Amino acid sequence: MQVTGPRTVPWFPRHISDLDSFSQKTLDAGAELESDHPGFSDMTYRTRRAAIVENAGTYKFGQEIPRVDYSEDEIKTWGAVYRRLKELFPKHACKEYNQILELLEHNCGYGDDNIPQLEDVSQFLKKCTGFQLRPVAGLLSARDFLNALAFRTFFSTQYIRHHSMPLYTPEPDVVHELMGHAPLLADPDFAELSQQYGLASLGASDSDIVRLATCYWFTVEFGVYRQGEDYKAYGAGLLSSFGEMEWSCAKKAEGEKGPQYLPWNPAVAAEFEYPITEYQPTYFVADSLADATEKLKEFSENQIVRPFRVSYLPYSQSIHTDRLVKRDTYEGA
Ligand SMILES: [Fe+2]
Repeated sequence: MQVTGPRTVPWFPRHISDLDSFSQKTLDAGAELESDHPGFSDMTYRTRRAAIVENAGTYKFGQEIPRVDYSEDEIKTWGAVYRRLKELFPKHACKEYNQILELLEHNCGYGDDNIPQLEDVSQFLKKCTGFQLRPVAGLLSARDFLNALAFRTFFSTQYIRHHSMPLYTPEPDVVHELMGHAPLLADPDFAELSQQYGLASLGASDSDIVRLATCYWFTVEFGVYRQGEDYKAYGAGLLSSFGEMEWSCAKKAEGEKGPQYLPWNPAVAAEFEYPITEYQPTYFVADSLADATEKLKEFSENQIVRPFRVSYLPYSQSIHTDRLVKRDTYEGA
C-alpha cells in the first residue's frame, strides 16, 4: 500500500496539454457497444463509428480537430432531431441558448441539412469565452471529464447515434454535444459555471468528485432556471431531448403529473439520487445562469475540502496552486 503524506492529493493536470493523455482513458472502448444499443448488430454502423473514433485517439492539444465527412444518412439522422428540437426551443430553451443558436446557424453551419464540424464550433467558442472542444472516443471518468473543464476544455464525441432511432441515444453523441452542450459554452456565465466545476475537481477526494458530478448532472445536464412564471431549460440533457425538454418545462394542467422542482442548492443536490435512463423526477431551479454559478462557487469554497487553493492562469493555460502540492502518481494510459 502506498503511504501518502497529508498534502498528497489525487493526480490532476497542471497544463492544458496534460489532457492529451485522457483521450486514451475512456471507460468503454469507444467503438464497443452494449447489446441493447440500437446499432449493436449493424456492422456498417460499428465500422463507421470506429473510424470516427480514431480521430480522438490521435488528437493532440493545439492541433486542428479532424473533419468528418458525414454521410447522407448521418445528416438525415441529425436533421430529424434538429427539426424536432427547433420546434421546442422558442418556448422551452433559455434565452441565452436561443440567441447563441442563431449565431451558430450563421457562423458554424448549424442547420437541419448539415452536421457542424467540431473544429468550427471550437473556434467559435474560443472567440466567445475561451472554451474549446476536443474529440473523445467515449465516456471519460467523472474526474477526468471535470478536470478538463478547469482548462475551459470540453471533451466531445464526434459520431452520431444509429439511424434506426434518431430521437434516442443511450450515450452522448454529436447531437447531444453540439445541440445540448456547445451553444451555452459561448455564454460567459455558463462558461464560468462549467469551469468552476473543473477547478473544484482538481485534486478533490473521490467522494467530492461524486458530489460535484451530481451537481453537474442537476445543472449542466438537467438544469432549468426561472424566467418570470416559466421554467427554461439550460441543461444539455434537456436541450438535446425534445421529450424531456417538454416534461421539464411545459406547464402542467390541473391534476396532470409533472416533475418536482426544488430551488438550486448545491449542498442538497450533491446528495440527491437520480435515475439515468428515464426522465428526471426532480429538477433544481436556479434564478439565472449567474445564480447557478454563484451558488456553486460558494459550495465549492466551503464544502470541497482541499489543502490548497487553485486558480487558472489563462496566459499560460495552466493551474496555479497557492502552496506546494504533492500529487499521487499518474495512473493514465
Ligand atoms: Fe452531456
